[in-house]
Amino acid sequence: MSDYLSAEAARLAPYTPGEQPQDQQYIKLNTNESPFPPSPRVVKALSRAELLKLNLYSDPTCAALVGALARRYELKAENIITGNGSDEILAFAFRAFCGEGRPVAYADITYGFYKAQTALFGLDAHIIPLREDFTLNVDDYLDFPGTIVIANPNAPTGMAVPRADIQRLLEARPDRVVIVDEAYVDFGGESCVPMIYRYENLLVVQTMSKSRSLAGGRVGYALGSPALIAALNRVKYSFNPYNVNRLSLIAGAAAVEDESYFATCTAAVVRNREWTARELEALGFTVLPSCTNFLFARCGRLSGGEVYRRLKENGVLVRWFDAERIRDYVRITIGSLEQMTALVDELGRLLDEL
Ligand SMILES: Cc1ncc(COP(=O)(O)O)c(C=O)c1O
Repeated sequence: MSDYLSAEAARLAPYTPGEQPQDQQYIKLNTNESPFPPSPRVVKALSRAELLKLNLYSDPTCAALVGALARRYELKAENIITGNGSDEILAFAFRAFCGEGRPVAYADITYGFYKAQTALFGLDAHIIPLREDFTLNVDDYLDFPGTIVIANPNAPTGMAVPRADIQRLLEARPDRVVIVDEAYVDFGGESCVPMIYRYENLLVVQTMSKSRSLAGGRVGYALGSPALIAALNRVKYSFNPYNVNRLSLIAGAAAVEDESYFATCTAAVVRNREWTARELEALGFTVLPSCTNFLFARCGRLSGGEVYRRLKENGVLVRWFDAERIRDYVRITIGSLEQMTALVDELGRLLDEL
């Protein structure tokens, strides 16, 4: 390791993002992006006139985007902060609500970035195993004296916790923050947004990367009580006041305003997911119940690593985690019906060859 590295940087556990190959045409089902382009309203809003304003800094308050979100979720501007992807919002939250005397808890099998970010901030992280069947037992968190972060629905399993369980966590200890990461909620989960006015300690984090086809735009946001949002702003204004760029502010607002495109795209993903789950089961896969835009599935005849490698050799990218408990599974993003048909055909061929 380099002599220039600080002791803190040497201790980091950097996250490995899913592959983003720039050279070859793959059927790309590995990073839970939308198979659909952004809304036509987004494309129209990103005009030449807006490009010509790139010499000016973006609005640090993100007022137009915050306003669009406030209308969509029936909240006030003081309930909302936007970020450069929800990854940035999560970082603000870990910095704002965890630290000395405030540990953080999350599941053993969940979004890998929680581990990377909590290491970045040197936090005391408590890893709480999911049950054998990958469900989350909220009783394990009831007495935890620190911040809790729950991806709901979870990644990479795709499984969700009922809102009533989150409510129990909020009520058990109003002195701690519960961060509910709803990156995938628009594909069938039960959102905690309606509970924001009731619980000051609830922070809901969402993203436009999945259901609003803006992964490359990097637009995330948090919804919560004014006290929590003010805390996140303290961190934001200590780090990067212009955190959302001019074009993404415009794209995000236009995407939120196009409710019918959002509804059409999410419904198509849900339909394709149900079709794919049935086809995978017909091929002998075990498929976990999913309310997300991906499936977590185990072949039984081939290891997860082999499924990943053989699919990649044949032009289909899925995600495989070489980690305890989930090594046998692959995570398959739901794409267009054409992409899912190609995946199922390829898997059928691979299994026939065994
Ligand atoms: C559970 C979860 N949370 C947050 C994110 C981050 O999304 P983004 O930074 O693109 O908004 C992801 C991305 O895959 C995710 O799976």
